Amino acid sequence: MTGHTIPEPDIYDSLDGQVALVTGATRGIGAAIARQLVDLGATVYAGARDTADVTASDQRPVQLDVTEESEIATVTDRIAAETGRLDVMVNNAGVFPRSGPLHETATEDFDKTIAVNLRGPTLVTKHALPLLLDSDGGRVVNLSSNLGQFTGGKWRATHPTGSRRLDSVG
Ligand SMILES: NC(=O)c1ccc[n+]([C@@H]2O[C@H](COP(=O)([O-])OP(=O)(O)OC[C@H]3O[C@@H](n4cnc5c(N)ncnc54)[C@H](OP(=O)(O)O)[C@@H]3O)[C@@H](O)[C@H]2O)c1
Repeated sequence: MTGHTIPEPDIYDSLDGQVALVTGATRGIGAAIARQLVDLGATVYAGARDTADVTASDQRPVQLDVTEESEIATVTDRIAAETGRLDVMVNNAGVFPRSGPLHETATEDFDKTIAVNLRGPTLVTKHALPLLLDSDGGRVVNLSSNLGQFTGGKWRATHPTGSRRLDSVG
């Protein structure tokens, strides 16, 4: 490297006073995003199927299986009651069944992938939108997969289908 520095965009300066919800915040990318948002000053609601899996003491764990609309509604109601706002919605929760070609794909795997990777973030966004629209510059971040661009490979039938459709609603 020749001494280049990566400029820090203003958007990352501070999220003080802002509120974020991250789905699938128990591990992996979701846990890292939740940690980063806390570091930037946001109040972070960490979605988890089992809230005991959220170990960060500076986050607010919330019971949130994205396939359960009643849990989604409970979470957004709680955020509205506790903070009155939502600035950042991160749809991170996802599953990755390693299916083969369509004719070898278990219908249950297909249904689960669509439920978690497509229906889930769509409904979470639906319930979050009233709060996001009230915020000055509310943002929705959808984690998808470049596998959505492919029709071949290891995840041939199931994962690309969910990802491509999520791209289309994001
Ligand atoms: N890792 C990659 O290389 C990669 C590449 C492209 C895109 N992505 C995308 O990035 C996101 C996160 O990937 P990752 O690698 O961090 O995944 P991961 O380590 O497998 O974590 C998945 C997260 O989703 C949660 N989850 C699964 N089903 C759920 C449900 N029904 N309701 C709520 N939460 C649920 C899991 O919760 P539990 O702890 O309860 O299981 C976990 O917190 C995914 O959307 C994925 O498509 C990842």
